[in-house]
Amino acid sequence: MTRLISRAPVRRLTRLALLLGGLLAVGSAAAAAADAPEALIKQGEYVATAGDCVACHSAAGGKPFAGGLAIDTPLGTIFSSNITPSKSHGIGDYSYAQFERAVRGGVRADGAHLYPAMPYTAYAGISDEDMHALYAYFMQGVAPVDQAAPATALPFPFNIRLSMAAWNLLFLDTRPYTPDAAASAEVNRGAYLAETLTHCSTCHTPRNALMAEEKGSNLAGSSLGTWFAPNITSDAQSGIGAWQVDELAHYLKTGFAPGKAQAAGPMAEAIDHSLSHLSDADRHAIAVWLKQTPPVHEAQDSRAAHQWGEAAANVDQLRGAARPANPDALSGPQLYDAYCASCHQPDGRGTPDGGLPSLMHNTALGRNNSDNLVMAILRGVQREPAAQAVNMPAFAPLLSDTQVATLSNYLLTQFGNPQPQVSPERVTALRAGGAPSPLLAVARYGMAAGGIVVLLLLLWGWRRRQR
Ligand code: HEC
Ligand code: HEC
Ligand code: HEC
Repeated sequence: MTRLISRAPVRRLTRLALLLGGLLAVGSAAAAAADAPEALIKQGEYVATAGDCVACHSAAGGKPFAGGLAIDTPLGTIFSSNITPSKSHGIGDYSYAQFERAVRGGVRADGAHLYPAMPYTAYAGISDEDMHALYAYFMQGVAPVDQAAPATALPFPFNIRLSMAAWNLLFLDTRPYTPDAAASAEVNRGAYLAETLTHCSTCHTPRNALMAEEKGSNLAGSSLGTWFAPNITSDAQSGIGAWQVDELAHYLKTGFAPGKAQAAGPMAEAIDHSLSHLSDADRHAIAVWLKQTPPVHEAQDSRAAHQWGEAAANVDQLRGAARPANPDALSGPQLYDAYCASCHQPDGRGTPDGGLPSLMHNTALGRNNSDNLVMAILRGVQREPAAQAVNMPAFAPLLSDTQVATLSNYLLTQFGNPQPQVSPERVTALRAGGAPSPLLAVARYGMAAGGIVVLLLLLWGWRRRQR
């Protein structure tokens, strides 16, 4: 099922040669899709929605696809491009071949390499049919916006976009998605959507020191700096093995799985912008595929994240108890009573219809990583009005780091998995947008190491050719 990643250097070198050849040939590419039929443009819109292009290519309050969203990476801030068909500031002059090369190969029309903040490693597997539809949509279904997106200026050596060529050589699998003959048509459809367009692994797969996805731990969970994208492999304790297919499909549609989880942060965005707009058949296919991914088990997980917790009995008793003068000395139950119990109910069970969710049997409190609990408290949960209007206020302005830590630890002990305790320092870091990343140093060092590896490979290839 998983596409095998070949690291055969010779093939990579051949590809590099082809790539360089392609560079020269780009100008002559046919300008297709001059008059694409309506149906093709519609299909392209569906593909763009599944790919969630709008999420990254629109700034807050900005026009769709006009770019300018600031994406914080360990290497610095990367701005997304204007991909409207504007001739002056967008991709209006892109031929089909140039567009295809940008989306599947990470190379701009001018030959410069894109940073992998653009998920071309996932999009590399998009089918030709979907690529043509996507192009027709962007050329004819999207309104041009003549407005420049801010330029990206990363520190040395990452400002040298050519360094991405070395990275691609190591980590970009340019083969289109190939169906697995042994699997059902539905599993293949789910795999195609999940591994290419909806790019689940971009968030859910851990990355190595070179910021590339670790294929051996596909979907095993990864920190996005602040929010944590959990293990969603088929493992029954560490992943989603204990979920039913229909529960998964319903979660992908609504962000809600009663008695298990609700989506906040980046997952809520992926659902609101993209996954909720897919057909029921496509969501079902993704769920069926997800249930048969190779399990990745973490030793400390003794039960599934939604299987923790008991209702609280002691909150009511605290009402009327003396409050300390120092707000940072308030106890967990006192903080819960003051800020949370009105919605999640004094016993933590939420409302019977689940509109206000239970904090027991809730994955946000049952994982061995508690960052999402802290993030939910700091940022709240704001869903698109188009979806269910379920909102939780952000408590960052109201609660100190110490209070958030006290409250979280009470909640984890009372309603969830007591193992991952929260320190005030962790809350400070998450409030500030993630720890000032030691990854920068690692990535720089790693990138240099990557460059050396590539040099050695080139030398090796060159010597082979000499023989
Ligand atoms: C996770 C964020 C993200 C998503 C999702 C995303 N992009 Fe991008 N894209 C970027 C960023 C960031 C850049 C600019 C990267 C750089 O400057 O190196 C970019 C650049 C591009 C470019 C190059 C344009 C140029 O000339 O600079 C094209 C074309 C493009 N994206 C198309 C798409 C399409 C089509 C989709 C949906 C199928 C998509 N992108 C989805 C982040 C994203
Ligand atoms: C932009 C990043 C991102 C993308 C893309 C993404 N996810 Fe998620 N996902 C997350 C985060 C973060 C959470 C945790 C949300 C929370 O706890 O509120 C999550 C949670 C989940 C959960 C709930 C797991 C649990 O234990 O609660 C499932 C299931 C899931 N994602 C499946 C998927 C699938 C399938 C895809 C691709 C179709 C996908 N995700 C794409 C970031 C992402
Ligand atoms: C105004 C009502 C309201 C208040 C007050 C409130 N919540 Fe929530 N909370 C919600 C709703 C609604 C959701 C579910 C959102 C959804 O379905 O996506 C939620 C979801 C959550 C989640 C799950 C988030 C995730 O990532 O899965 C946690 C944890 C949580 N609340 C904790 C708290 C804590 C702790 C407090 C007190 C500091 C609190 N809530 C106060 C309404 C509220």
